[in-house]
Order: sequence, then C-alpha cells, then structure tokens
Amino acid sequence: MMAGRAEGHETEGAGGPVRHVPVLLDGVLSALSVKPGEVVVDGTFGAGGYSRAFLAAGAKVIGVDRDPDAIAGGQPLVEASNGALTLVPGRFADIEAHLASLGVEAVDGVVLDLGVSSMQLDEADRGFSFMRDGPLDMRMEQAGPSAADVVNTLPARDLTRIIGLLGEEKRAGQVARAIEQRSKEQPFTRTGDLAALIEKVVGRSPKKMHIHPATRTFQALRIYVNGELHQAASVLGAAEKVLRPGGRLVVVSFHSLEDRIVKKFFADRTRTRGGGSRHMPEEDVPPATFELVVKGGQEPDESETQANPRARSARLRAARRTDAPARDLDIHAIGVPHLAEFKGLGG
Ligand SMILES: C[S@@+](CC[C@H](N)C(=O)[O-])C[C@H]1O[C@@H](n2cnc3c(N)ncnc32)[C@H](O)[C@@H]1O
Repeated sequence: MMAGRAEGHETEGAGGPVRHVPVLLDGVLSALSVKPGEVVVDGTFGAGGYSRAFLAAGAKVIGVDRDPDAIAGGQPLVEASNGALTLVPGRFADIEAHLASLGVEAVDGVVLDLGVSSMQLDEADRGFSFMRDGPLDMRMEQAGPSAADVVNTLPARDLTRIIGLLGEEKRAGQVARAIEQRSKEQPFTRTGDLAALIEKVVGRSPKKMHIHPATRTFQALRIYVNGELHQAASVLGAAEKVLRPGGRLVVVSFHSLEDRIVKKFFADRTRTRGGGSRHMPEEDVPPATFELVVKGGQEPDESETQANPRARSARLRAARRTDAPARDLDIHAIGVPHLAEFKGLGG
C-alpha cells in the first residue's frame, strides 16, 4: 500500500482558548481574486478566517459549516457584517440546496478548506485527538454514529479496509484485529484508550519518533465517521453546477487522499480536445468545464509552516469555470472508495 501524505500532526496544547490560524490565506485570496460585490461560498466557515478576508475585500459571503459550534461562533461576524455574511448550518456537498433556499442561482467563487479546525482537533471533548484523552467521538456535526460506534461494531474485515484505505496504514489488518478483539472484551469509549492500543500494535518508528503511531488510524476513523471523501468529491461536482462562467473554485486539502480526488477532478474537467486522453477518442472529449488558475498544487512556504505547523501538509488547487455545461460526476471514478455502510456512514 502506498503511504501518502498524512494530515499535519497534532500540536502540543499551549493552554488557553484554541484559535484556528487560516492556512494558505494569501494563495486563496490570489486564486479567488475576489472583487467588491461578488458572491463567494466559504464552504468550510470554521473560525471565519477566510470569510473575514473575503468580506474585507468587499465580497458577499455565504458561509457553510456542518459544526453547530462554528455557526454559533460566527454570529458576531454576521452581526458586524451589515448583511454581507450569511451563515448556513449544513454540509458543503449540499450547496445547491443551500443556495436555492437563499434564492441564489449562481456564485462567483466556491472555497473549501477541507478537514478539521483547530477547535475541533484540540478540544479533547470533541474526541478527535489521540494526544488529549476524551470521549471517542470525532463527529463534526455532533450527531449520528460516533467513532466509538464504528470501532465497537464493525468487524475486523471492514475496519481493515477503512484503516488501510483512509489512513494508508501499512499495519491496518493487525490494528483492526486488535481493535475487534479488545472491543469484544471491553468496548472503547475514550480516545486515549484506543491510541494506547494502536501504539502497542504499531510501535514507534525510530526514524519518526515525533509522529504518534495512532495518527493514521485516527485519520481513517475521522474521515469515515464524517464521510469526508464522499463530501469532498460531491462538492466539486456541485461547485461546477453553481459557479457562473469565470467563477473560481479554490480547494485547500490536508492529506493525499483528498488532494488526489481534487487533482483527478481537475484533470478530468480541464481536459481539452488535442490534449485528450489516450482512452478516449478526441471527438468524445466533452468541452472543459474548468481551466486551471494554479498549475500543480501550491504548498505553504517555510515561514508559514514554521509559524503554523498544521499548514505543513496543505496543498491548494484552483480553477476557473468555463461556460461549458456542467456534467454529472461519478465520485468513485475520481477516487472515493467503496466502504462498509454503517448506519448511514461510508459509501
Ligand atoms: C479547516 S476548518 C476551516 C477553517 C476556516 N477556513 C478558517 O479560516 O477559520 C474546516 C471546517 O470545515 C467544516 N467542515 C468540514 N467538512 C464539512 C462539510 N462536509 N460540510 C460543511 N462543513 C464542513 C468543519 O466543521 C470545520 O469547521
């Protein structure tokens, strides 16, 4: 199995309230090149770091977040915005429905800063952290099946696939069997307990002492519990439908699974006749729905990664919508794996 880029490591708690530092903000602003009066969807509102900058540039912003805490935390910014910021609780893959409910037909920008916020990752009670013991939860939405439900219920066969595919963990089978055995004796309820078991199975690599052995398994469970790849792929297809010609789609991803999906989507949607695929006769290549704004993926520079270690694994991709008609998207064709269905999770 290929070991890809895993998400930035957890940061040691410095005490005090957790603040999310926006990642690659300059790159996002330059790729979006927002003009006063334009309408931008910030699909991952979080602590509002991007939205604040879009508002300062004169945009009207529709902020979406599936975490009720993020929506509640954004209310002061809504009040200060004189009607320029609207916050919508919900999933970004449903942006067509969110915009329809606001009576908005097309937008000038869709921006996604995928993954978890510092508030989610660093607050032990949210249950995402292997370094801060808390309930084994990991639900961004604070509703639905939790990580504890997943590890205590799914058989080792399904857990192996989840941990192997979504965590790119080489010892997925061993970890999954150990989890199954232990949960039969005593179900998991705490992050610290699960992290300690994984550490026993995987061990610390002498070359990577600073990386906790539970990093990959925790990443996998979090992605599964929140259907993150499904969401990330679906929102790209939805953005193609709601962006007006000339509108920009800007995506910041934090691990190679997500980045591969974004890259494949753009490769498919920017393909033109003449630069076509060897699998498809030229005349069958549909007109490109996007043109790249940023060639390849943009990474943070050293000063940003030093100031904010969480930015380390970030990659930005951006493209401009053409006037070609939007097409339907097969999310599995751009890399979303088929996984065990679990009370509405996975797929
Ligand atoms: C990395 S943070 C965004 C930080 C934000 N750019 C800022 O500057 O404060 C990601 C946010 O996206 C939200 N999120 C993740 N997946 C989502 C989805 N499928 N739909 C809606 N919100 C989502 C998370 O709840 C989290 O608040």
